[in-house]
Amino acid sequence: MPFFNIIYVENVEKATSLVVDNLEEELKLGNLNSLGLATGSTMIPFYTSIVETNLDFSQVIAFNLDEYVGLDSSHKNSFAFFMHEHLFSKKHFKETNIPNGLSLDKKLECARYEKKLDEHPIDIQLLGVGENGHIAFNEPGTPFDALTHVAELSDSTVHVNSQYFEANENMPTQAFTMGIASILKAKKIILLAFGEKKRAAIDALLGDIITEQWPITVLKKHPHVTLITNIKR
Ligand code: GLP
Repeated sequence: MPFFNIIYVENVEKATSLVVDNLEEELKLGNLNSLGLATGSTMIPFYTSIVETNLDFSQVIAFNLDEYVGLDSSHKNSFAFFMHEHLFSKKHFKETNIPNGLSLDKKLECARYEKKLDEHPIDIQLLGVGENGHIAFNEPGTPFDALTHVAELSDSTVHVNSQYFEANENMPTQAFTMGIASILKAKKIILLAFGEKKRAAIDALLGDIITEQWPITVLKKHPHVTLITNIKR
């Protein structure tokens, strides 16, 4: 039987402590060798809490979901920069992985990343969700069998994420992203979704339909998902 657990929380702090407790447990059991991480504002309180704990990730390999094409780790809006700032500069991991936004051979970079993922299967993948139901940068319409690839960002995603870029700066419209099939390879998935802006995506997830138009609905096919949310239905 698939495990699909929904935990309603009053606030982000409660969600954060549940995830931290869960990671602590899995670390103790020796079940956490490879951890999938995400970017986005949803993840910041969680990383802040992790940094404050004495949890030891020195034997854990981290994988991030995605990276903008064309941005390197010194660009303040790159996901590599985000991860360094919020987590990796403060917590030691055995190894951290994120697609190289500056790769000239994009196909090769995608293949390299997918191979690395296969070598270190993800035990727990943390996920957020976009307002249009995207996971990582798998936009509506992405085939469910997609592996790591270069995605064209939707108008909705560009609109939402451009708030982080300067007015005179063009935000990238492409990104390297783990595909939906790459994400589904994770043994366990923890999805965090907070606030009314995510309601449509959560409604789609908790409804009856599984459709490529709402990438998040594919999680219903995964054997072990925990949704932690403050969105009451
Ligand atoms: C980006 C990331 C996603 C993330 C989403 C939501 O588009 N590629 O992985 O889930 O943003 O971000 P936020 O948490 O800021 O709402």
